[in-house]
Amino acid sequence: MKSASDVPIIQTFGLSKRYRQTTAVDEISLRVEPGQVFGFLGPNGAGKTTTIGLLLGIINPSGGRFRLFGGESAAELHAARRRIGATLEYPNFYPYLSGRDNLRIVADVKGLDSKEIDRVLDLVGLGRRAKQKFKAYSLGMKQRLALGATMLGDPELIILDEPANGLDPEGMREIREIIRGLGERGKTIFLSSHLLSEVERTCTHVAIIQHGRIVRQDSVADVTSHGVAGLRSADLAALETAVAEYPAAQWVKRRGDRVVAELDDGDLAALNEWLVGRGIHVSHLVFEARSLEDVFMEATGVADIGEPTDGSSGRDERRMGEVP
Ligand SMILES: Nc1ncnc2c1ncn2[C@@H]1O[C@H](COP(=O)(O)OP(=O)(O)O)[C@@H](O)[C@H]1O
Ligand SMILES: [Mg+2]
Repeated sequence: MKSASDVPIIQTFGLSKRYRQTTAVDEISLRVEPGQVFGFLGPNGAGKTTTIGLLLGIINPSGGRFRLFGGESAAELHAARRRIGATLEYPNFYPYLSGRDNLRIVADVKGLDSKEIDRVLDLVGLGRRAKQKFKAYSLGMKQRLALGATMLGDPELIILDEPANGLDPEGMREIREIIRGLGERGKTIFLSSHLLSEVERTCTHVAIIQHGRIVRQDSVADVTSHGVAGLRSADLAALETAVAEYPAAQWVKRRGDRVVAELDDGDLAALNEWLVGRGIHVSHLVFEARSLEDVFMEATGVADIGEPTDGSSGRDERRMGEVP
C-alpha cells in the first residue's frame, strides 16, 4: 500500500555540482525516507556542504535533479522548503543579543510567537540561559542554539551541517541526545558529519561520501551487522602481520588490545588453524560487530576518515566518541 507517508523526503538523481577545478558533488543518488535519522558521512572536502546547499536552493546544480517531499518543480521545492529547518556549518547570531532575542529574530521571519521560542529553548536545554548574551555562551551552547533555530516552527525535516563540529564529548552527547529525541518524535533528520562515531551513535541510516561520490548507502544496522574477527595474542604485532598474510583476510588492523580482520569466508576455525601452523597462539578469537569505521575503510580503501579541521587528531576524535 502506497500512502503519502511513503514518499521519500529527499531523493536525488545523479545530482552534481562542478566548479572550474573540482567536481564537488558527482552524480549522487540519495534517498531519505520519513522518520530516518540520516547521516551524511565523509571526510572534509567530500562534498557534504555543497550537497546541502543544493538541497536548500543556495547552490545551483550542474547536473541531475532532486525531489523534496516528492516535489521537484520550482514551486514545489519552494513549498517543500517551508517544511525544512536547516543550518549550514556556521550559523550567524548576533553576539550582543541574548540567545532568546537571537531566536526571536528567526521566529519573527517565520511568523512564530514567543511560546514557540520557549518550547525550543527548553528542548535544547537553554531555557535558563536564554537571557544571557550569545557571546557569553560556550561552543556547546552556541551549537544548541543553532539547533534550536532549526527547530522553530516544528519542521518535518531538519538538515544539519556538522552539528557536532568542534565540540567536546559532553557537548557532543548533548547534541546527540537532542537529535535522537527529535528522531523519536518522528522527525526526519539529515545531518552531515566527518565523525564516524557520531553517525554510528546518532543515526539510523548512513550514506558515505568520498570525493563527491556516494560509496555506500544503507541502514547503520545493516552496514555494521556483518561481523569481523577479533583476535588477541601475547604478541599483537606478530599477530597482525600473520593475519595480514592470511589469504581470506580482506583487511586487518589494530583496534585497542585486539587485531580485527574481515574474512571472506567468515571461518574462524580455519584462521585459527592457519595461525597455529605459523606458531601463533591466539588467546581470544570471536566475531564482533563491525564498526562504521570498518565499513568506511572497506568502502573507500582509506584507513582513516582524515584529519578534522578543528585541530584535534582523528584518533582523539574517535576516542572522544567512545565516552558513553
Ligand atoms: N564555491 C566553490 N568554488 C570552488 N570549489 C568549491 C566551492 N565550494 C566547495 N568547493 C570544493 O568542493 C569540494 C567539496 O566541498 P564541501 O562541499 O565544502 O565539502 P565538505 O562539506 O564535505 O567538507 C572541495 O574540494 C571544495 O574545495
Ligand atoms: Mg562542510
